[in-house]
Amino acid sequence: MDFAKLINTRYSVRAYRPDAVEDEKLQQVLEAARLAPTAANRQPFQLIVIRTAGRQEELKRIYSRDWFVQPPLVIAICGIPAQAWTRSDGKSYVDVDAAIVMDHLILAATELGLGTCWIGAFDPHAAREVLGLPEGVEPIAFTPLGYPADEPRPKKRKPLAELVRYERW
Ligand SMILES: Cc1cc2nc3c(=O)[nH]c(=O)nc-3n(C[C@H](O)[C@H](O)[C@H](O)COP(=O)(O)O)c2cc1C
Repeated sequence: MDFAKLINTRYSVRAYRPDAVEDEKLQQVLEAARLAPTAANRQPFQLIVIRTAGRQEELKRIYSRDWFVQPPLVIAICGIPAQAWTRSDGKSYVDVDAAIVMDHLILAATELGLGTCWIGAFDPHAAREVLGLPEGVEPIAFTPLGYPADEPRPKKRKPLAELVRYERW
């Protein structure tokens, strides 16, 4: 799939089939995440691959929608702020790094016919407990990973004229 088609094909999938995700596809998706650029190449993240089978109720403490646990897999990305590059004014790039990693993963999944949905509105306290996260590790985003059972909707986006300025503000 060429890049223009890929970014048009990806959408937030909010219904999944229970079908297994082939291990080879999971590895390809994880490899795409590994290749993501990060500030100063610090790679201050850990991905957690979570099998949903038998853990649905526990995982719904993290994000309560039924579709979150419909597919066989959920992926969490956690940041490790102490490992991340920090700008001279103190701004940490850990969230930026994690977002790029997750975007690589999500676009690779799309190319393989898999559905994903960025989840930021999760309960961080529940995520810490359910995933056993140690101090210094911050859950940043989740995505279900599996075969879609819904259809893409037309994309609603602002026109470029509302999003882009040239030369200065
Ligand atoms: C950082 C981030 C967090 C998001 N969190 C959620 C979420 O918690 N629940 C949800 O259903 N969708 C979530 N979304 C999906 C957005 O609502 C969705 O990407 C946006 O409406 C555009 O739709 P599309 O992904 O189908 O193109 C999130 C997206 C991003 C980028």
